[in-house]
Amino acid sequence: MPEPLRAGVIGVGVMGAHHARVYGELPEAQLVAVADADEARLADVRWGGGVRAYQDYGKMLAEEALDAVSIAVPTRLHIDVALACIERGVPLLVEKPLAADLDECIQLKEAAERAGVTMMVGHIERYNPVVVAARQWIAEGKLGQIHEARMQRIGPFYERMRDVGVVHDLATHDVDILRVLFDCEVERVSAEVQSGVRTPYEDSLSAVLRLTSGIVASLEVNWLSPSKVRGFSVLCDQGTLVGHYIPQALTLELPSGESENIPLEHSEPLRAELEAFLSVARSNEPPPVTADDAIAVMRVVEALIESAKRGVALPIAGTS
Ligand SMILES: NC(=O)c1ccc[n+]([C@@H]2O[C@H](COP(=O)([O-])OP(=O)(O)OC[C@H]3O[C@@H](n4cnc5c(N)ncnc54)[C@H](O)[C@@H]3O)[C@@H](O)[C@H]2O)c1
Repeated sequence: MPEPLRAGVIGVGVMGAHHARVYGELPEAQLVAVADADEARLADVRWGGGVRAYQDYGKMLAEEALDAVSIAVPTRLHIDVALACIERGVPLLVEKPLAADLDECIQLKEAAERAGVTMMVGHIERYNPVVVAARQWIAEGKLGQIHEARMQRIGPFYERMRDVGVVHDLATHDVDILRVLFDCEVERVSAEVQSGVRTPYEDSLSAVLRLTSGIVASLEVNWLSPSKVRGFSVLCDQGTLVGHYIPQALTLELPSGESENIPLEHSEPLRAELEAFLSVARSNEPPPVTADDAIAVMRVVEALIESAKRGVALPIAGTS
């Protein structure tokens, strides 16, 4: 077993705290430092005695010899924090969305490439066993031809800092899942949003997407619904494949009315994601989720918002 990599986390709020916990659990890593602007967060006993805590992430990067860093600060801060890691040559995993807009995503891709620094993006659902198994079933042709997909990510609003709307924050997951499930890109979008209900940004999204493979997909994404649903259904020749990410359940509903449960090995997606990140941080091989993936997703996110603003269907540049 090689030496564990020295890992750090910048931004130990809701998501960053999970990164810190998982680094602490993985034999491939040793959590050595965390940074957060909020002193109360740093005082949390969960980081353990040996973990150094910094209010200034720049100081942490200067003082610690880190082999891998997770960035889980609010989305609009990703660009500055990621550029600081790239400048220091530290491999980085940036939470989704990679940055707040397309220009910033491209800037980060170019900076990481110029510096030869490994940068992975935290599209965590790729590591959900439901997505892993569905991808495999689809790739093996077990579902026959796919016709439509319905993606649902709805739930209540949790009070915490929001610096982007629900399209950037949540729909990014579903756009990326569509790309990987069906191994294609989004070609055209038509969307409607509601804004200003709980945040100054978009609070709900209803959209129809056409994929380059010809599949039609619908997106229902909001943080306005009392109950939380995170799932998809895929209409295909063999019936309907239904996936639920939280309980990690995958079922094929057959035309006969019966249904078949697809067995899955349940596991924590973040653990698999961080294992993959640590592996490329060590080997310097290309990451499994790249800046190009994040850029493709951000093109769709921005087109969804623009489509809603203008009331028209919009093509995605470079896909037709
Ligand atoms: N992959 C997922 O499923 C998932 C889930 C939740 C959040 N996220 C992403 O993670 C990021 C953080 O979201 P969150 O919900 O954890 O937010 P959060 O507000 O709970 O946490 C952000 C933390 O960053 C800290 N912070 C703010 N400015 C800082 C600075 N200058 N230096 C250091 N720390 C600073 C805050 O004090 C806070 O503790 C967002 O980009 C979000 O999109 C991803």
